[in-house]
Amino acid sequence: MSHSSSQSAKQIGEHIYAHDHPESDRARGGGFTLWFTGLSGSGKSTIAHLVGPELDRRGLFVEYMDGDTVRTHLSKGLGFSKEDRDTNIERIGWVASRITRQGGAVIAAAISPYEETRAKARGLVEEFGAFVEVYVKASVDECARRDVKGLYAKAFAGEIKGFTGVDDPYEAPSAAEIVVDTEATEPEEAAALVVAKLEELGLIPAEVTA
Ligand code: ADX
Repeated sequence: MSHSSSQSAKQIGEHIYAHDHPESDRARGGGFTLWFTGLSGSGKSTIAHLVGPELDRRGLFVEYMDGDTVRTHLSKGLGFSKEDRDTNIERIGWVASRITRQGGAVIAAAISPYEETRAKARGLVEEFGAFVEVYVKASVDECARRDVKGLYAKAFAGEIKGFTGVDDPYEAPSAAEIVVDTEATEPEEAAALVVAKLEELGLIPAEVTA
């Protein structure tokens, strides 16, 4: 069938984006989103990138969605107002839901400071698979002591306004599936706890010990 006229192209477009086709909402099954939330410097990305290879090793299709990376393309141009942060998180949530629908394992890591917006992301994903929230817990003092990117020093000096945990809110999750306290737990141990929880939830095959 040829779709050379612009009229047919438009019809194809409408068909692709139409939402009244039940088959387009079908989930492949087995997908889930692992959502890391916490302050800047709490250890989200570090743990996420230790968990990812382990999931990969167990045969899952892993896709990372890191706040820092997403902000260089999908969310390029967004700032750190509540509105922009919400847009960023909703975008990540939406893409995560599509990948989850295709059976992928999404590893999202963004501050995602607002409970209501995280709940929105959860809602999008749960249409197709599990949403596993990991609260990566560390105090502002500890994150500022680590200050990996030197941003806390700038925030305390007033050079950056609206920095999460300094002069912008962070709403800690009230019902995260996993809480890891990175002031008391090394990254490798934290990653192992996350992997164990995914096993317990039946989302990944248990380790095969030869
Ligand atoms: S979120 O609030 O929208 O979830 P996201 O995780 O994408 O944030 O980006 C946070 C990263 O942006 C931080 O780790 C830090 O490197 C950088 N950043 C720059 N300005 C700010 C700010 N005002 N508040 C928090 N993080 C900031």
